[in-house]
Amino acid sequence: MEFQFILVEANYQPNIALVRLNRPKELNALNLQLMLEMKEALAQLDANEEVRCIIITGNEQAFAAGADIKQMESKTAIDLLKIDQFETWDQIRKTKKPIIAAVSGFALGGGCELAMTCDMIIAAESAKFGQPEIKLGIMPGAGGTQRLTKAVGKAMAMEMVLTGKFIGAEEAKNIGLVNRVVPDEVYLDEAVKLAKEIAQMSPVAVRLAKESVLKAFDSGLQEGLYFERKNFYMCFASEDQKEGMNAFIEKRKPVFKGN
Ligand code: HXC
Repeated sequence: MEFQFILVEANYQPNIALVRLNRPKELNALNLQLMLEMKEALAQLDANEEVRCIIITGNEQAFAAGADIKQMESKTAIDLLKIDQFETWDQIRKTKKPIIAAVSGFALGGGCELAMTCDMIIAAESAKFGQPEIKLGIMPGAGGTQRLTKAVGKAMAMEMVLTGKFIGAEEAKNIGLVNRVVPDEVYLDEAVKLAKEIAQMSPVAVRLAKESVLKAFDSGLQEGLYFERKNFYMCFASEDQKEGMNAFIEKRKPVFKGN
């Protein structure tokens, strides 16, 4: 598939892939084609054995300023039902490899939701997060009311969703929306640093651990604990587990192969 609205580098750094949203004039507004491309790119990278961690980013001005309002404006409820764009979002969420959002500038509406669909967020000091849909007479539709609430709690989620206010990177950090805030010049470098750290781990353990953390979002505690336990046992079916533990005992660095 040829990509028109994203740039993909499967080998941006060893074992690290980069997906860059690329509609700069529209502040990376997420049109339907862009999201289909994102789904396809992530599926390809997920299937690529060389890739161990994926970074999604935009540019300095915008991660993404939301779904494309111009494309949405004339749609009816039944149009949206037929387009079924959220199936695309569901597929993105199913990516097995860890995804880091490297956010600079605006991450609004669907842009904020895309960042939250990723597993971790590195924010530049200039980043601005918000769910401004309410100002357009609509509400978040790609998980904003759910993931934001789980990430930051009811009070702040309610305020952001009901007023559409933007919050800066520091505030986003304070309320638990992002992992860390870094100077604008290095936000991508910091995301790469984090990706490199994860890429050194056993890909099998990383996959099972990601799956287990995500399970906490959509299950009760007991169900989540059983799920975690099953994946914990599964780690012991990997050669990487033996390698990791032997390396510790032999006081050397482990070499994880994903088997
Ligand atoms: C389409 C957009 C856009 C968007 C910006 N643009 N955001 N086009 N959809 N979401 C376009 C503008 O129309 C303009 O193009 C160009 O990008 C630059 O934007 P400006 O508004 O001139 O920039 P600025 O004054 O710096 O303001 C930046 C901004 C503002 C505060 C981010 O653009 C803004 O409020 N954008 C909309 C944010 C928003 O409401 N997002 C939620 C969308 S709904 P032209 O050609 O006109 O100059 C949503 C629902 C998700 O996301 C549902 C699930 C998928």
